[in-house]
Amino acid sequence: MKGIVFTEFLDLVEEKFGLEMVDKIITDSNLESNGIYTSIGTYKFSEMLQLLQHLSKNTSIPIDSLLLVYAEHFFSVLKKSYPELFATYNDPIDMLSSIENHIHVEVRKIYPDAELPTFEVIEKTQNSLIMIYKSSRAMHHFGLGLMNKTFEHFNSKATIILEKLNEDGTEVKFLITKN
Ligand code: HEM
Repeated sequence: MKGIVFTEFLDLVEEKFGLEMVDKIITDSNLESNGIYTSIGTYKFSEMLQLLQHLSKNTSIPIDSLLLVYAEHFFSVLKKSYPELFATYNDPIDMLSSIENHIHVEVRKIYPDAELPTFEVIEKTQNSLIMIYKSSRAMHHFGLGLMNKTFEHFNSKATIILEKLNEDGTEVKFLITKN
């Protein structure tokens, strides 16, 4: 997992819960990096998982809710870092249906070692989109947060239903309908 995902995460934890919480979740975890991250480095996903688990335990907020809020913050980081990718689109459904064959393809060119999910488009109309998310990291709520913000970015609204296709959340169907 890319370092920027860690640095932005810890910045948000500090902003929302204070520096003591950052120290606490790092100390509670067993981290190869010792909790020292640079935005261009690459670190094990298991480190993010431990940080999330400890933050969840200490705040009594479920991991999926933490990931949702974090994704909404991460969206503005992406917007600032990759304005040219956003400029390609003028419609949220078009943008979301292009994650797999355009957006994450470009991400992979910048970061060859990025750990990305797959999004398979099952059905697309002007106002709706059905996609299947697959990733061993089960970060579907991170995806949901990014989708919410994608609609907001285009001054649009949607109803997004998430249907787990397996117990561990590594395969999830997203049913997206523009309001
Ligand atoms: C310009 C737009 C985007 C850029 C530059 C971008 C870039 C990235 C980067 C750098 C990562 C982390 C990879 C790693 O740590 O190894 C990532 C992960 C991810 N991205 Fe994107 N992304 C974009 C848009 C989106 C959108 C709109 C979605 C909406 C569903 C999305 C879904 C995800 C998910 C779910 C992950 C977590 C990894 C996983 O589930 O396996 N991305 N993306």
